Amino acid sequence: MTVPAGGVTPAGPSADPPARSAAAPAAAQPLPSTRRLGVGMVGYAFMGAAHSQAWRSVNRFFDVPFTIDMAAVVGRTERSVTAAAGKLGWRTYETDWRALLDRDDIDVVDVCTPGDSHAEIAIAALDAGKHVICEKPLANSVAEAEAMTEAATRAQARGTVAMVGFNYRRVPAIALACELTAAGMLGTVRHVRAQYLQDWIVDPDFPLTWRLQRERAGSGALGDIGAHIVDAAQFIVGEPLVGVSGLTETFIRDRPGGTVTVDDCALFLGRFGGGAVATFEATRLATGRKNALRLEINGSGGSLAFDLEEMNELRFYRHGEDPATAGFRRILVTEPSHPYMGAWWPPGHLIGYEHTFTNQARDFLSALGSGTAPSPSFADGLQVQRVLAAVEASAGNRSVWTSTGAPSGAEQT
Ligand SMILES: NC(=O)c1ccc[n+]([C@@H]2O[C@H](COP(=O)([O-])OP(=O)(O)OC[C@H]3O[C@@H](n4cnc5c(N)ncnc54)[C@H](O)[C@@H]3O)[C@@H](O)[C@H]2O)c1
Repeated sequence: MTVPAGGVTPAGPSADPPARSAAAPAAAQPLPSTRRLGVGMVGYAFMGAAHSQAWRSVNRFFDVPFTIDMAAVVGRTERSVTAAAGKLGWRTYETDWRALLDRDDIDVVDVCTPGDSHAEIAIAALDAGKHVICEKPLANSVAEAEAMTEAATRAQARGTVAMVGFNYRRVPAIALACELTAAGMLGTVRHVRAQYLQDWIVDPDFPLTWRLQRERAGSGALGDIGAHIVDAAQFIVGEPLVGVSGLTETFIRDRPGGTVTVDDCALFLGRFGGGAVATFEATRLATGRKNALRLEINGSGGSLAFDLEEMNELRFYRHGEDPATAGFRRILVTEPSHPYMGAWWPPGHLIGYEHTFTNQARDFLSALGSGTAPSPSFADGLQVQRVLAAVEASAGNRSVWTSTGAPSGAEQT
């Protein structure tokens, strides 16, 4: 269905529903030497807005081999999805995601719904020949994530690709941390300390939303924000977590609207395939902490430290320097030579949360254009899912050491 001229639904409860037009909507005109790529996005709230911003801006800042046509947004309520299409910049809308699968003008399905629909939408889209970007965590269970990874493998044989949306890999400071670690600047990595601290449900009167229901979200802080630090840590270290010992807690079980069936917080020890040891903490009850994704990595040759609440900065300590002047140096990650930053602003002109999604869109399009598989893959998402499942299994069994199933020469028994 096309979005009415001006794109915005008339306001007020008595406004008529938008007119449906049978006229074929105009697709985006490809930029010189690029091909048109039609995107259909499912879900238009928090992540839907962030992804829309990315699709709107990626051609304006990056040289990518496709011109994005924001072809269709999907929601279940016609009035709301029409308003969302206008506000976020989508050309048409649908009220059932299955409609995307039959549309020739849709090349990519972008899944921005809660975890309980990721597997069904992503598998159907891949099987229909659509490329897929799926928000994290990949799924609500290992079984779903395995089925999605199998669908991605089948699709790849036909040239169709899939990627999971761990956008924090696209924070320039985190991408730089990955580059420095891979270049050996830390020597042998021994310690990883990862935290993701928020406080948005500390009020017991905060109502039950889908994020607090196991059947919708899979798990609580563990899958929502713990998944991010698991992916970020594995990305920087370059190895999978092979075993964990976990502890979860739900401090506030009864909320307006019903009973909480997920964790408020999750803590665990972990070991990487190469032998490094790690601590992880994910909580939504850390009063005063709003979005503190913190990473510290200590190696034989130095350390790195990062805090998302100061996301343009990376701290780096090089072991062995003159003690008189040695210390953590603050790298302002805004130089054109830093990951992604050449496309943005002059040095010192900071970027924010939304830029990570544009950077993510750029990486996806670059991979698609070069015929390579975008990263992180569904297999990467499955590995994160296995870590989450191992943490839950361990927490439910006196925190006993639990394998993630990832291969290692250094797994603790
Ligand atoms: N990468 C990140 O930093 C980040 C941040 C927040 C959320 N997420 C992830 O993004 C996903 C969505 O989270 P959110 O915060 O945007 O949730 P949200 O509640 O803000 O939005 C969910 C949207 O999905 C729609 N929806 C639900 N079921 C649908 C269906 N069957 N068909 C069509 N639309 C449907 C809802 O109407 C809503 O528009 C989750 O997997 C979440 O874990 C990622």
